[in-house]
Amino acid sequence: DKAGHKHFMSKEIFEQPTVLAECLTHYAPGDRVALPEDALDFAQTDRLILVACGTANYACLVAKYWFEQLAGLPCEVDIASEFRYRAPPVSEAATALFVSQSGETADTLAALRYASDKAARIISVVNVPQSSIARESDLALPILAGVEVGVASTKAFMNQLGVLANLAILAARQRGHIDAARETELLATLRAVPGLVNQALALEERIQKQTGKLAEARSVLFLGRGAMFPLALEGALKLKEISYIHAEGYASGELKHGPIALVDKTVPVIVMAPRDALFDKTVSNMQEVLARDGRVWLITDAEGAEIAGDGVWQTLIIPRIEPDLCAHALCRAGTVDRLSYSPAQRHRCGPAPQPGQVGDGGMS
Ligand code: M6R
Repeated sequence: DKAGHKHFMSKEIFEQPTVLAECLTHYAPGDRVALPEDALDFAQTDRLILVACGTANYACLVAKYWFEQLAGLPCEVDIASEFRYRAPPVSEAATALFVSQSGETADTLAALRYASDKAARIISVVNVPQSSIARESDLALPILAGVEVGVASTKAFMNQLGVLANLAILAARQRGHIDAARETELLATLRAVPGLVNQALALEERIQKQTGKLAEARSVLFLGRGAMFPLALEGALKLKEISYIHAEGYASGELKHGPIALVDKTVPVIVMAPRDALFDKTVSNMQEVLARDGRVWLITDAEGAEIAGDGVWQTLIIPRIEPDLCAHALCRAGTVDRLSYSPAQRHRCGPAPQPGQVGDGGMS
């Protein structure tokens, strides 16, 4: 039942505030993260190894910023299909964490099996609690997103981030990087996110109007810094997967090291620039795009648009978010999904969607 939506993907995008709120309440019903601490000893962990495929891998890349910045925990993120064949050294004091919506992705399962007699503990973050990956883990944490029918991961990505944010806060507490007051503050920031995602989703009509032009593009670039960098990768993946438009995501600072050669007035460049410590840096990369006649689509808040909106092609103003690690990435995750979905409604090129594709059935 698509509940009045044209595709399951659309339905699932709009479920995000609800399922995220449920997930956050489950893992932190009060002032403290309520995860099984005996099974999650981040104080004794020398390294966190996060392994996954596709969108789940991008959730890991976002979480890397949180584990490093909140908890000072050295963190590696690997693509499962690389990790499993590379035979990387895994320290006995490492925690290995596998993220998978289905819990059945073959490469992720093989990577888990490789690490299982090496790392101190194997944790998984899954949507299907009975899955192989969950069963073979020391601890499986469900993301509680409900069934995700759409092939393109949307609400599962959001809730993977929700669980990972709670894990990062727990790691920060166990490693003595935050006190009780800061934990309460971080959880309050997180709890505000479903409401902010709702506000972002209310921009639907506006996004649909703006993406009309995007649907004509042959190629699109997404740029972001910090935790916005993996979201740039995720935005590009979604646009390719759903709209058959070529897209690439880059760390903003990498633009000048080659990809800027692609920029001209036919290539929309979507710049994700929250008003955080990296804002000025991202805007300076955006200026490089403008200097090449690039068509910039700036995603920021009202203050960011006021400061940097001159000369850009389009601006999408999303709710102001407290410059806290978790909230930024989560709220923008919702916006990026929405943005990738809209051109698919108009794009007329490429093969016709098959059953089980384009957010219309099948499991990823
Ligand atoms: O079920 P998994 O999370 O292990 O699937 C991994 C990827 O295939 C998946 O995240 C894929 O990239 C997304 N469905 C793309 O939207």
